[in-house]
Amino acid sequence: MSQHPDAPPAVPAAMTGSGSPIPQIESLLLQAFLASIPDHIYFKDLQSRFLAVSQAKATRDNLTPAQLIGKTDFDFFAEAHARKAYDDEQAIIRTGQPMLDKLEKETWPDGRVTWVLTSKLPLRDDLGKVIGTFGISKDVTKSVETQKALEEANLQLMEATRQAGMAEVATGVLHNVGNVLTSINVTANLLSDRFRDSKVTSIFKVCALLRDQSADLPGFFAKDPRGAKLPGYLENLANALDQERTETMSDLGTLLKSIDHVKDIIWMQQSYASVAGVVEPLALNEAIEDAIKLSNNALLRHNVHVTREFAITPPARAERHKVLQILVNLISNAKKAMDVKEPSQRRMILRIENTPQNTVQIKVIDNGVGIPPDNLTKIFSHGFTTRKDGHGFGLHSSANAAKQMGGSLSAFSQGPGKGATFVLELPAWKEGESNSLAVKSAEQAFAPISAARSV
Ligand SMILES: Nc1ncnc2c1ncn2[C@@H]1O[C@H](COP(=O)(O)OP(=O)(O)O)[C@@H](O)[C@H]1O
Ligand SMILES: [Mg+2]
Repeated sequence: MSQHPDAPPAVPAAMTGSGSPIPQIESLLLQAFLASIPDHIYFKDLQSRFLAVSQAKATRDNLTPAQLIGKTDFDFFAEAHARKAYDDEQAIIRTGQPMLDKLEKETWPDGRVTWVLTSKLPLRDDLGKVIGTFGISKDVTKSVETQKALEEANLQLMEATRQAGMAEVATGVLHNVGNVLTSINVTANLLSDRFRDSKVTSIFKVCALLRDQSADLPGFFAKDPRGAKLPGYLENLANALDQERTETMSDLGTLLKSIDHVKDIIWMQQSYASVAGVVEPLALNEAIEDAIKLSNNALLRHNVHVTREFAITPPARAERHKVLQILVNLISNAKKAMDVKEPSQRRMILRIENTPQNTVQIKVIDNGVGIPPDNLTKIFSHGFTTRKDGHGFGLHSSANAAKQMGGSLSAFSQGPGKGATFVLELPAWKEGESNSLAVKSAEQAFAPISAARSV
């Protein structure tokens, strides 16, 4: 009689109580197998009662294999888990379809959780009729826990990286606001000094003099030498007060400009932060100007000469705050790389280019220390830094951000002393592309790359 084509090895006849006894050697092999395999193997009847189990399975339940026979999962597991296993087995019996490599969570009555990788198959007799199920479960608790710990660590890493990127931008904001506050302070002090020394007090002296002479003012002006000098004195005083007023107006103008500057910086940072996760058409020249504004004080302090070479390009398809973060990072790196140069020789080029691939590029080019060939890929690793006070997050988080926008960040250098070029490539915004912005939540925008891939 031919066996059912999909049938797994027939159940040993000794177990079904029908047919001829299984040959001695096969029985021996099966016994040896069940006795020593570390995995949990079981054979169950149509009511999911154990017919036979591996020693490992019995040991885990604190019984011998013989004691397990006739029992069910309900005797060992929490109800919900036993019910689920039972339903799966009944489905296999009904459909004849196996269930392979299923990751199962086991919850024990004492609350312990273990994980198993399970395959369950229909158990057929010699005629191919389903008479139960059999299966194998491998305890994978350790590797599941390891993987969970890895995922958790990855999330923490991404979060740290994201915060480091934001910190770089925040540092730019604080530097700028701090510098403007210094100039506000200087101007306010000037104003205060000027008011303290103001000639305005001289008017009081004139008033007092006139009050003293009030009995005979015409006589005072006609005969007293002080009266004769008074008109000239008043004219000089008027001129001095007028000059004071002009200077005060000019200082107040400077003060208002500085306050506007602070407002601008804060507004810019907020406008970037508030659009996290929004993909939009982004004018590259504006993004570069904003990044320069944030870096300007540091660039001036380090005497870096900046050249703009902007081609006309379509807007990029990008997230504004990410691009700003990347550019601020690249500019800050370039500036530091040029510290080795004479101040008068520090040159940075910011270039915008089209490509034939429907992408747009921003190049940040410096003539600083350069990068040895061995380091060209390493510099993008998390934590890689060659700087004493570096942390090695900038390029890693920038490259991640570029990737998340469908772009890339790459580095080029002819070697030590030869300067470096960083290229941020982004997809171009297609003309006519819907302006309904793809809004993602901030968490999604920063989802770890591996998690995004596995979805
Ligand atoms: N413009 C550049 N020129 C030369 N080397 C650079 C440049 N930008 C980055 N690097 C190298 O890449 C490393 C990593 O940069 P980054 O990730 O921003 O971290 P950090 O600035 O904290 O060192 C730097 O330490 C430096 O060795
Ligand atoms: Mg850096």
